[in-house]
Amino acid sequence: MTDHTPPIITIDGPSGSGKSTLGRALATRYGLQFVDTGLLYRGLTVAALHKGLGAEDAEAIAELARTAHLELNTDPTKLPGTWDLRINGWDPHGEERDPSHARLLSEVSAIPAVRTALLAVQRAFGLAGCVAVGRDCGMVIFPEACAKIYLEASDAIRRHRRASQFEEQGTSVDPSLLSREITERDRLDAPRTFRDPDACVINTDLNDISEMIRIAAQYCDDMGCTAPQCPSQPRREERV
Ligand code: DC
Repeated sequence: MTDHTPPIITIDGPSGSGKSTLGRALATRYGLQFVDTGLLYRGLTVAALHKGLGAEDAEAIAELARTAHLELNTDPTKLPGTWDLRINGWDPHGEERDPSHARLLSEVSAIPAVRTALLAVQRAFGLAGCVAVGRDCGMVIFPEACAKIYLEASDAIRRHRRASQFEEQGTSVDPSLLSREITERDRLDAPRTFRDPDACVINTDLNDISEMIRIAAQYCDDMGCTAPQCPSQPRREERV
C-alpha cells in the first residue's frame, strides 16, 4: 500500500452492536464510502425468496449471487427513507430487514459459493476506500485495512437497539420474534464472525454513541487513517 492508497476501515461485530452507527460516523469523518456488507446477504436472501428458492437450493442461490446486480447506497449521510439497497435496480423498501427471514438469511450467508461470489463485490468497494461493516471485513474481506474495529455488546442492549431501529422506521415487531432472531442469528453466524487479533475492541454497553465514536475516531487517527494517506500496518501499541 502506498501513501496515496485510499483508507479502508473495517468494523465487525454481532447484530445490534452499533456497527452501522459507528460506520456512518467514521465514513463521514474521513470522506469515505459506507459499505454495509450485511445488506448484500440481505438483498440476496430477498432475491432468493422472490424466486421461490429455499436453503436446499444452494446451487441456485449461488448462481443468483454470481448474476444478480446488488447495489448499495454508500452515502454515509443519506437521509432516512432514501434507498439502501437495490436488487437488479429494484428497491426492496425494507423487506431485506424483515426478521422473519432471519433463518434463511444465515443459511444463505453460510453457502461457500455465495461468500466467494460476494467477496469480489465487497473488495471492489475498497478500491476507492471505504468503511466496511460486517462480520468478516477485517479478517477476510480487507485484511489490508489500515484500521480494524470490533464492537461487542450484551444481548439485552442489542435487543433493545434492534427494537428501537424498527420503532424509528414505524414498524412494530413482536419482541419474542426479535429476541429469537438475535439469538438464532448469533448462533448461526458465529462460524463466520471473526475478531482480528489486531482489532481495536470497543464494548458499546459501557460507552454511549458519542464515546464509541470518540474512541474509534481517536484510534483511526492514530492509525493514520486521514484520507488520502493511510499506513499499511496497524501498530499494536496504539490500540485503545
Ligand atoms: O449485519 P447484518 O445483521 O445486516 O447481516 C445480515 C447477515 O449477513 C448476517 O446474518 C450474517 C451475514 N453477514 C455475513 O455473513 N458476513 C458479513 N460480512 C456481513 C453479514
